[in-house]
Formats: sequence, C-alpha cells, structure tokens
Amino acid sequence: MNMQSGRTTLSKFLIEQLRGRDDGADLGALLVDVAAAVKAIAAMTAKGALGGVLGALDARNVQGETQKKLDVLANDAIIQGCEWGGLVAGMASEELEAPYAIPAEFKRGKFLLVFDPLDGSSNTDVNVSVGTIFSVLRHEPEAAPAEADFLQPGSRQVAAGYAIYGPATMLVLTVGAGTHGFTLDREVGNFILTHPQLAIPEDSSEFAINTSNERFWEPPVQRYVCECKAGRSGERGRDFNMRWIASMVAEVHRILMRGGVFLYPKDTKDPGKPGRLRLLYEANPVALLIEQAGGYASTGRGRILELEPGALHQRVPVMLGSRNEVARLERYHAEHDRGDDQPFVSPLFNERSLYRPEMALGSGK
Ligand code: F6P
Repeated sequence: MNMQSGRTTLSKFLIEQLRGRDDGADLGALLVDVAAAVKAIAAMTAKGALGGVLGALDARNVQGETQKKLDVLANDAIIQGCEWGGLVAGMASEELEAPYAIPAEFKRGKFLLVFDPLDGSSNTDVNVSVGTIFSVLRHEPEAAPAEADFLQPGSRQVAAGYAIYGPATMLVLTVGAGTHGFTLDREVGNFILTHPQLAIPEDSSEFAINTSNERFWEPPVQRYVCECKAGRSGERGRDFNMRWIASMVAEVHRILMRGGVFLYPKDTKDPGKPGRLRLLYEANPVALLIEQAGGYASTGRGRILELEPGALHQRVPVMLGSRNEVARLERYHAEHDRGDDQPFVSPLFNERSLYRPEMALGSGK
C-alpha cells in the first residue's frame, strides 16, 4: 500500500480551507513558512544533548527570565523563516523587547506574526515536551508597524497555532474554522492531518495548576481547587485527577485531546504581575484554539479574546479548557467579587496548619 495515499498534507489542507478567502493564499503561504521553521526547531530540540544546544545563556529576556540557548535558536529560526517572503509586515516575540522590523531588502506583507518561540523552555534540559506558540494578525501593508499595531484583541486573530515537540512533533492550528492537528512524518518531512476538527468535552474531571502557589491564589481559585481535591466526598460529588507539566503547550494539547482545565491564575507571589502568561503570544492564540474546539478561555473575570491589550508583553490570568468548568470558575469569581460566596478558608490555613488564617486572607486579595 502507498503510505502517502489518502493523506491530507498541511499545504493541501490550507489551500482547501482558505480557498476564496481574502488574503487566503498569502495567509496559507505564511503558515507554510511557520511550519518550515517549526520543522527546523523540531530537529534542534530532538537532538537533545547531542546538538550542544541545551542549557542557559548568560542572558535574560525582556521578562527578566534566563534565556536558554534553544530560546534564541528557535527565535532566530522563526524570524529567518518568515522575514523574507513578503508576507509579514513585522514580528513580535517573547524573546525581543520591541517588535522586529522587516529588513529593508525584503517586501513587507499584510500580516503581523507574534510568537513565543519555545514555550516551557525550562523543560528542555529534562527532556520534557516544549512548544512554539504563534498568532497571526492583519496589518495595513503600506506602513511599517509600530508597537501599537500589535495591540489587537485576540478576537481579531486570523490564525493561531502551536507546535508541540513531544514523542511526536505536532502542529495544531486554526484559521477560524475549527481546530485541527497535524503530525510530522519525520522521514518524509510533511505535516499530515491526523486530528481534524478537535472537540473538547464540555465537562471534565481533570485540572492542571501549579499548586505550590496555592497560598498566593485568590479565594475563588482556592475554592475551585479545594472542591476538586475533595472529590466525591465534597461539593463536586466526583473524583478529580490533577496534572502539571509546567509547559503550557503540553497541558493545552492534553486538554484538546481529552478535556480538562488549565489554570495559571493571578496570584500575590509577585504583586507586580497580574498573571504569569503573556496575552499576545501565549493566552490569545491558545484561547482561540480552545474556543474553536468548543472550549472556553477566561481570566476568571471575562473572555480572554475580548481583552484590549495595553502592552506587547502584558501578562494575564488564564483559565481555559472544558466550557462548564471554566464557566464555574467565572461564577466563583463573580460571587466572590459581589461578596456572595461563603468566606472560603483553605484547609491550608486551618488552625493546625503551618499557616495562620490571617495570612490566607492577607495573601488572597
Ligand atoms: O512561561 C510560560 C510557562 O513556561 C508555561 O509554559 C508553563 O505553564 C508555566 O510557565 C510554568 O510555570 P511554573 O514554573 O510556575 O510551573
């Protein structure tokens, strides 16, 4: 049997999905360029220690985070793969303080590309899945983009996606008509449509959150997680499972495959940060993918895709996944903000614990 027969490649899928759409051919061509960069990053990450690219650089990015060698190499792979084709007017990346201007020798195009070149990169040295997240926005082609041109709400994204570098490399994307997954056939070098029209179940019994931050969360999040942990003997009346990979792409991928919720809420650990994840190149693209698969993405107090960005590297609280679970989290936040919830004191802070209740109240707000 010919193993190539009956297989939809990424290029064929894009031609079909974008046929007849304004700028469809250009958008398809840009996504093919992104996919080519993703293949280069997949090859680098797959070499592991043999590639000599593990470990940290003696540098920090704009967020003050230590840069890994692979962060910078992945960033370069995307810029070099997408700057020359006349399709993008500018790019912005987690690794660059200001937007990247397309060099004068290349034509500028109609799109802005925003990306996190290697999400979860603290995991590279321990051989756990990492990913690339990207978002495509429209731009008037004549003018070189200013930072303000990138500050568009997520609902205006024309495409979004991520690559996950796991046991298999996959590309998961949306152009606004469902969320679809492609698996890299490494021998042939093609992305093949293996997971068309992903659908997240509305209900779920699996949650993902870094519980080491529990004492810094707001009461509605403490309440939600406490009820999940109480399982069938508590409010929820059923047992829940917990996962934490510390790589958002991997958590989101699991949720797209079998449901669940992922939370990186606002906390008081670093009062200067209203959340950990960045709106433009982490929360927005992932929110679009989740919603296109029937899920929901919220800050706890509103839909992520409707936020008006105020800065390129803005951070936001993120709660996403199975629709009914995220709706419950929004309800808990609303009840708390109205003062309608029962005063919630986490068992972490009961009398016999290491912490005193007044610490919980002080840290929860
Ligand atoms: O910076 C993004 C990120 O690496 C996500 O991919 C991941 O979910 C999170 O940070 C991990 O955070 P923590 O180190 O608190 O577990």
